Amino acid sequence: LPALPSRAAPRKVPFGAAIQSDLMNGDPAYRQLFVEHCDLVMPMNALKFDLLRPTREIWDFDPADKVVAFALEHGKTSRGTCHVWWGATPQWVKAIESPSEAERVLVEHIERVGDRYKGKLLGWDVVNEVVANDPIYENRSLRDTYWLRTLGPRHIPIAFKAAASADPSAQLALNDYDLEFKGPHYDERRTIVLSIVRQLQDANVKIDAVGLQGHLYADKEIDVDALDRFHRDLDALGVKLLVTELDVIDWKSPAGPHSQDRTAAALVTRFLDALFSFKPPELVISWGLTDRYSWVNDVMPRPDGAPSRPLPFDRKLRPKPWFELIENRLATV
Ligand code: G3I
Repeated sequence: LPALPSRAAPRKVPFGAAIQSDLMNGDPAYRQLFVEHCDLVMPMNALKFDLLRPTREIWDFDPADKVVAFALEHGKTSRGTCHVWWGATPQWVKAIESPSEAERVLVEHIERVGDRYKGKLLGWDVVNEVVANDPIYENRSLRDTYWLRTLGPRHIPIAFKAAASADPSAQLALNDYDLEFKGPHYDERRTIVLSIVRQLQDANVKIDAVGLQGHLYADKEIDVDALDRFHRDLDALGVKLLVTELDVIDWKSPAGPHSQDRTAAALVTRFLDALFSFKPPELVISWGLTDRYSWVNDVMPRPDGAPSRPLPFDRKLRPKPWFELIENRLATV
């Protein structure tokens, strides 16, 4: 691997990344990148409901076991994502119409999975993306999902309670996107997150953290003041803030590695400054490490056909300026 510029100082806030278990064996240099640069390595997809339990009969723990063992063998921590997510509900679950049966399946799933990784994971994204995508326009606060339609909003406390009973010391988080930007739409999303946290706490349900996914966009303005306020509001509720899926969707920046990387560095700086102005987040996790593999390449490709550059290392596994920037930020708390 190319030599890295030396770090300003050891990190005071841990840095981690999500890894794709299916690529770990085929690409040893990819795997090694996580060994070299991460304090935490978590499965990007392997702990999602549909992959763990594709049918009622089949449980497939192998890919997730492999990642968790890899992290622990290398002296790193790991965490789990995610028990409840609209994007990973298997068809066989969606076919269940009875609320009591759906609740049984959900609780059984969370208890079994939570128990299997008890003591091995720092914590879990218990619910992922439960806030409505566009609450004002849609005139709803929660996303319309199988779980909401079948169990109502109580699926959220049900999931948190099951996760706490399976692994009492796990840090339990609500994870969501679009919580960083400027505008009424994003204000509303932040307000909804705070209200879910308060409702859980009022019902004596344990919630320890809120995960900001941190998918940043070249064409969305980060609201520094609102983010600072949100951080303080969470802190006042005794809830930690994590950055869980940091990357940069650079499709609206001028093409070219230099300009794309400059855009990314500016965004990441603004984002971290906004968070750190109150206090450091608990963890910063990027959604992958290298541009070689990213959902952004597949789902959000640049309209001009130029390669996207969403992650801190490029396709040749060379660190970009924004990796250095993160290193310095996490070292100087
Ligand atoms: O591994 C197979 C490969 O063998 C096959 O050829 C290919 C064909 O489609 O699929 C590959 O699996 C894909 C997998 O990513 C690995 O790349 C799945 O189809 C694809 O559904 C899966 O997408 C993941 C997605 O969540 C759905 O689980 C992305 O990697 C992952 O980055 C994305 O992550 C989400 C977070 O969980 C929540 N926040 C948004 C974020 C980005 O969408």
